[in-house]
Amino acid sequence: MKVLGIESSAHTFGVGVWDGERIAANEKAFYKPKKGGIHPRKAADFLAENAGEVLGAAVKKGGVKLADFDAFAFTAGPGLGPCLQVGAAAAKSLAARFGKPLVPVNHCVAHIEVTKFFTGMKDPVVVYVSGGNTQILILEEKRYRVLGETLDIGLGNLLDSFGREMGLEWAHGSVIEELARKGRYVPLPYTVKGMDLAFTGLLTHAQRMLSGHSKEDVCHSLQETAFAMLCEATERAVAMSKRKEVVACGGVAQNSRLQEMLRKMCEERGAMFAVGPNEYNADNGGMIAYTGLLMKKAGMKFSAKDFKVRQRFRADEVEVSW
Ligand code: FE2
Repeated sequence: MKVLGIESSAHTFGVGVWDGERIAANEKAFYKPKKGGIHPRKAADFLAENAGEVLGAAVKKGGVKLADFDAFAFTAGPGLGPCLQVGAAAAKSLAARFGKPLVPVNHCVAHIEVTKFFTGMKDPVVVYVSGGNTQILILEEKRYRVLGETLDIGLGNLLDSFGREMGLEWAHGSVIEELARKGRYVPLPYTVKGMDLAFTGLLTHAQRMLSGHSKEDVCHSLQETAFAMLCEATERAVAMSKRKEVVACGGVAQNSRLQEMLRKMCEERGAMFAVGPNEYNADNGGMIAYTGLLMKKAGMKFSAKDFKVRQRFRADEVEVSW
């Protein structure tokens, strides 16, 4: 079965090709705002302007003709409405043009599935950390159950907002990670409630500390505090669920200090830790193609309402019947 997947939930227009055996292409265009956060309308315009080129490049690299795909998968949510619309419209027109089925994919579930594919983990506790999302999940009774999550902003959002406050232009997470290596620890507010987390108090405090402390010290302390909170909640999830595997996925999972802390926690508990390739932790079409394949192979059926994009579309709403 050959599946084309389109991702457009935020700043990335990605097209992935599952050629029957592997992800044969994973092409993308990435919107970088000049200043501030993502403006949904501007991002959507950028995605639409680049859609044709990315699609062409993916099909060429993947070596599958558009007419030969068995299904067209797209990100149905969660994400920014105008951005989601771009990918959905592209997938719908392809499906109509070639008379093939559409597969609506949940973005979070796609991050999890592609990570399981690349790491070989079977039944892990999942730490899903991106700009808008921070959740700890396990698969139970055919759903990814959310054991813990952020009560306010996502971990990526915390780092981005703080990076902007420091005057950084882009790639906030990686610059913060670099600065943090040279810093020393200063205590910051630490908020874990059971397996849930809250980051806004930490953000406000860290922003205030920028006057009076070095950037390196604040970056270091911000990372150590936020990641320790996440490790504590994850450890609780591992203990409660008795799982022996942990994976991290999503954009922030690329942070090597976070990986180091999660790995250490897992070692101490006798659990295995793994993280997928960076290319697939960033938003991408390959994970949508692969998850679309799983859903299609499982014989899942969809109706018109499933093809509407949803800004809020939780992982636990999807029945995992594959
Ligand atoms: Fe994502």
